[in-house]
Amino acid sequence: MRHPWKTDIAPSSITPESVWQGRRKFLRSATLAPLAVGTPSIALATPSNDPIGPALLASRNAKWSADEPANSWRDITSYNNFYEFGTGKGDPEKYAHRMQLTPWAVKIDGAVRNPMTLDTDSLRKLAPLEERVYRLRCVEAWSLVIPWIGYPLSHLLKHVEPTEDAKYVVFTTALQPDSMPGVRQPILDWPYVEGLRMDEAMHPLTLLTFGLYGHELPAQNGAPLRIVIPWKYGFKSGKSLARIHLQREQPTTSWMRAAPQEYGFYANVNPDVPHPRWSQATERRIGTGFFASRIPTQPFNGYEKDVAGLYRGMDLRRNF
Ligand code: MTE
Repeated sequence: MRHPWKTDIAPSSITPESVWQGRRKFLRSATLAPLAVGTPSIALATPSNDPIGPALLASRNAKWSADEPANSWRDITSYNNFYEFGTGKGDPEKYAHRMQLTPWAVKIDGAVRNPMTLDTDSLRKLAPLEERVYRLRCVEAWSLVIPWIGYPLSHLLKHVEPTEDAKYVVFTTALQPDSMPGVRQPILDWPYVEGLRMDEAMHPLTLLTFGLYGHELPAQNGAPLRIVIPWKYGFKSGKSLARIHLQREQPTTSWMRAAPQEYGFYANVNPDVPHPRWSQATERRIGTGFFASRIPTQPFNGYEKDVAGLYRGMDLRRNF
């Protein structure tokens, strides 16, 4: 991703210490048995350092879970992008705990018959929580496997009753300048804004997410709630949501505004369409060690059979 004061070195070419240290943890986590739907959520891997924070139980949804070992809690919570807290991968873990998480309100409005503002607890109780193991592929060509906890966003959208004008959903994330050192920098046009077409937002894979590894989301992963869209580059999955707005027009998202030639509205994972400054054909799985081979990136991040139909007839090179 591009920052006005940085060089053109792809962040993916920098090796953080956590990658070196994470190797053993990842290997240990590779001996996992899948859980059936309905079993209470216990972490599928036993990360070498235990998850922390309030527990959040959910039933595993096997249908929508990747059959791959999850990364350790440590990998998932220490190697983050959350630019409101700085551009370093370790900055969110260092600073995001300063975010004010209570009270928290999410406004859901726009082209809906039933607009509302809900606190975290009411949102969490709106539908049964599920544990889903999703791959997360960052546009910087690294990836993680994460056992998220949440429910399909479609439940919330149906609850507010979209009108015929609801063609797009706009996600605006929290802006707390006093606790977010990154927003004093001209990295992006704050607050962070992302968006989906209505059919993408209603897709059963699109998860309104409240936790991971059997616990509430840590601040650095987007507490108290975020969106996760596993077939798109990670930047589409906005953290710490403050507003969900339905509208007729396609929104201009923060990354489109910052670098329109590099980041498009769709941002579907696509190994055939390189980023202008690096290839998207392969990825580095965090936690496997710097010398581990890169793995091939799959179209739509491996969710092709589930989502390709949404884009039938579209030129995915133009609509990147
Ligand atoms: N949401 C906000 N509000 N701010 C951000 O900087 N970064 C995005 C996305 N959501 C970001 C955000 C990017 S680039 C990625 S790859 C994912 O969050 C990373 O999620 P994770 O840190 O939980 O793995």
